[in-house]
Amino acid sequence: MKHSELPSADGVWRHVRIAPGALAGDQAIEGDAAIVVAQGKIAWIGAGNSVPADFAALPRFDGRDALVSPGLVDCHTHLVYGGQRANEFAMRLAGATYEEVAKAGGGIVSSVRATREADEDTLYAQAARRLEQLLAEGVCAIEIKSGYGLALEHERKQLRVARRLGEAYGVTVRTTFLGAHALPPEYADRSSDYIDRVCQEMLPALASDGLVDAVDVFCERIAFSLEETERVFHAAKKLGLPVKLHAEQLSDMGGAALAARYGALSCDHIEHLSADGIAAMREAGTTAVLLPGAYYTLRDTHLPPIDALRAAGVPMAVSTDHNPGTSPALSLLLMANMACTLFRLTVPEAIAGITRHAARALGLQDTHGAIGVGRPANFVLWQLRDIAELAYWFGQQPGRTIVRQGRIAVEEATVA
Ligand code: NIG
Ligand code: FE
Repeated sequence: MKHSELPSADGVWRHVRIAPGALAGDQAIEGDAAIVVAQGKIAWIGAGNSVPADFAALPRFDGRDALVSPGLVDCHTHLVYGGQRANEFAMRLAGATYEEVAKAGGGIVSSVRATREADEDTLYAQAARRLEQLLAEGVCAIEIKSGYGLALEHERKQLRVARRLGEAYGVTVRTTFLGAHALPPEYADRSSDYIDRVCQEMLPALASDGLVDAVDVFCERIAFSLEETERVFHAAKKLGLPVKLHAEQLSDMGGAALAARYGALSCDHIEHLSADGIAAMREAGTTAVLLPGAYYTLRDTHLPPIDALRAAGVPMAVSTDHNPGTSPALSLLLMANMACTLFRLTVPEAIAGITRHAARALGLQDTHGAIGVGRPANFVLWQLRDIAELAYWFGQQPGRTIVRQGRIAVEEATVA
């Protein structure tokens, strides 16, 4: 069903419990609470016995003591691509590393071939199925990167699909241009020429089409150098676009410190992040995006420096990194679980990682990732006793009612 045809969530949502950390600011409401939605926005939140009389005429929904969290935010995905790479999964199981697979002509470039071959509607249909899985868990905002086209028309095709998905599903989509994801085969040994093309042709054209909310680069030995990364950041800055970075995933390239100098929204992966990188991120207010799905799939053993990030007070987000190579994952809740189990995040940290800190990684901290008056109505009523259960169960969907962008997108028999 199209988002615009879903039932309106306008009304008084009674008998809910507000999960710790769910409200914008440092607010908390103990015990029975209510949320009022009017014209798709949160109009009031407070104790269940103090709903203002002005709202008496609105429809009522019975939350049956559900726990309410903000809508989830998946802040790093490569959701739009052609084909799949199960063959590489098998190669890696047989002992090949991610870098060896990439050097053998697989990896990102193999998804580029399949993405170039697919037309826009095919990419849309395939990505829509994936998006539906994420939305069914309560995702209300998502970042979608390009980076499997690596030529203007194909990057445009990916980003157009991302925008269309946002409109059709009533989910906030932030598009990120990742033209500097890998070197396309036609530029073999001409990395610098390709970066010129990214900076001078692709980025300005896509930005003027209104298709770019942020700019990302894969800064790595098997991708682009620090100097090339800076050229892309410089081009982004000239256009007034925020940057983020695939940083220090396989080695310490010094990418995080560079990104921080450009005021990056986030540095993502960061398994090999240095103390200098952490200090620079803290100074710049850059969010650390942890991607346990890629860590797990690559059977990585080099943990991101969680204790040092925590000690520095760098906000930590958690995301699926959904992509066909290193993280074919479509459950953000599973990532929260893995962030705890693999990375030793605390449960509140993991939950903040898929809500408020994820929103911040997208520059959406004023509208998403927390429930607050005046914000768009994005929240989830969970049939759970304890919010820790969000990170505890895995491989199952907890009972839930999802209010996305002012509409009831999934309903767990809560309506009185
Ligand atoms: O975030 N690290 C680079 N980019 C993706 C992987 C892309 C791919 O292998 O297709 C990531 O893990
Ligand atoms: Fe990624």
